[in-house]
Amino acid sequence: MSIKDDFWECINFPHGANPINYALEKIGEPEAYRLAPVESLMPRSQLEARANSLSRIHGRGRQPPHTDGAHQERPPKFILLWSENATTAHATTHIRRLDISLLTPGFWRKLSDSVWMVRASATRFHYRRVVESDELLRWDSGCFQKCIVGNLSANEVDQELEKIPAAEFSWSSTCALLLDNRRVLHGRSDATNEVNDNRIIKRVSIYER
Ligand SMILES: [Fe+2]
Repeated sequence: MSIKDDFWECINFPHGANPINYALEKIGEPEAYRLAPVESLMPRSQLEARANSLSRIHGRGRQPPHTDGAHQERPPKFILLWSENATTAHATTHIRRLDISLLTPGFWRKLSDSVWMVRASATRFHYRRVVESDELLRWDSGCFQKCIVGNLSANEVDQELEKIPAAEFSWSSTCALLLDNRRVLHGRSDATNEVNDNRIIKRVSIYER
């Protein structure tokens, strides 16, 4: 499996090391990319979650398939995720390669035509299309809301995208997950079990310059 063929890949790295350089080596052309600071992600209840996020809707429950940074002008090209304290008991991450042959043509056409309202704050919002080509999607039902143009609801989009068969990624402390962020949709599985209280996933967003 390689990032070029399947658009997601396990990056092996030594326990305790930082996988970023290993990932950049795999991607190649490091000068073409800009890295955001490392973030630490933990399961959040609805009350703890920030506004316009999937956790505000689903809490520690299962997240629907999504793109990271979908609301941004240019979402990250790649996402690198890893765990320093992984156990196989931690919630897995589901991964779906965007393959429109697995979607009904009617749904893809409607999605391509649709325009969504993206909330940046309580008083600021803008409008976005979510399909940029048959291979590039940005989607996050946490921050995209139905607006007048288009006849799909965010729930319907989630349900249709869920029909793409998923790979389940189990976390280990020596395998980082590198995702081609707009060709692969991902989401955390249910993390309500307290074993996930210490599930911390590190994330680096990798942007094209
Ligand atoms: Fe995510």
